[in-house]
Amino acid sequence: MKVAMLTGGGDCPGLNAVMRAVTRKAVRHHGDEVVGFRDGWRGVLEADVMDLSVDTFRGTLPRGGTVLGSSRTNPFKVDGGVEACKEALGDLGIDALVAIGGEDTLGVAHKLAELGVRVVGVPKTIDNDLSGTELTFGFDTAVSIATEAIDRLHTTAESHDRVMVVEVMGRHAGHIAVWSGIAGGATYVLIPEVPFDIDEVCDALRRRHAAGRYASIVVVSEGATPTEGTIQVAADEVDEFGHVRLGGIGSTVADEIKQRTGFDTRVTILGHVQRGGTPTAYDRVLATRFGVAAIEAVHDEAWGTMVALQGGEIVRVSLAEAVGTLKLVDPSLYEVAQVFFAG
Ligand code: F6P
Repeated sequence: MKVAMLTGGGDCPGLNAVMRAVTRKAVRHHGDEVVGFRDGWRGVLEADVMDLSVDTFRGTLPRGGTVLGSSRTNPFKVDGGVEACKEALGDLGIDALVAIGGEDTLGVAHKLAELGVRVVGVPKTIDNDLSGTELTFGFDTAVSIATEAIDRLHTTAESHDRVMVVEVMGRHAGHIAVWSGIAGGATYVLIPEVPFDIDEVCDALRRRHAAGRYASIVVVSEGATPTEGTIQVAADEVDEFGHVRLGGIGSTVADEIKQRTGFDTRVTILGHVQRGGTPTAYDRVLATRFGVAAIEAVHDEAWGTMVALQGGEIVRVSLAEAVGTLKLVDPSLYEVAQVFFAG
């Protein structure tokens, strides 16, 4: 078979690990030919493809980013885009496509699968917001990066009796915030799933500082929103998938805390640091398992499915299920974080 891959959407550590596994299993165990489309769906639209081999990925297991590049191109937003994709796949003699991406990339894959394109998905995103899989690769690395940052901010907060606000990524789900907040011993965690009342946050900080603890860490998910009518937040431009560009709520929260409590407050916006560098060992293993399983799904002709992690096992779910609804933070996990609010 001639198998093509693409990596779409926000990049994350582990992408090269997936492609390394796909290529090794395809070439060495199935005698497949493997090629890669550059920059996600743009490469398919423009038939921008490169040969891949086992040697291509030597030394890339621990390396972040993606050798193919990525983009947020959406063929369904391009006149004739779907036809161009199908034509490119046909003209290049592609027997199967492995799409490695998040809700947007796999949303396109799902719609193309319904139109007869032979595609299998691999769940990628630091946000961990894809349904059907307990974890996406990239998430563990992002949580580890955020946790290390929180650990470091504790010591400087304690040196200066400060409130440190840390804004983390995650788009419209608070998984990174909750996991890194619990792991990092945060005083408070704000997530999109639970609109926050800034007065409650400030009251908790006052209680903590009155008890003699003069340093606090408030973790804020970039998609967190204040309860109606409490704080004004600006809306920004949107991308090709209609996602508003997030970022900045951390600064707003820090300003409000400072104004309302008088506590010396600083903000750290981790941003794309959470998307860079080497994948954790866990993500390297998960990405490798996903890549091997993706090629097995290809050879089983399981078109329109996504490999997924459930109960520690690698299974297949439909792309329809994976992209149908955003996977949000389990309220029971947020309740665990709440046990430690303003402790
Ligand atoms: O989806 C991954 C993600 O990192 C989100 O957490 C974040 O909001 C978004 O991508 C940032 O997108 P970009 O890299 O296009 O600025």
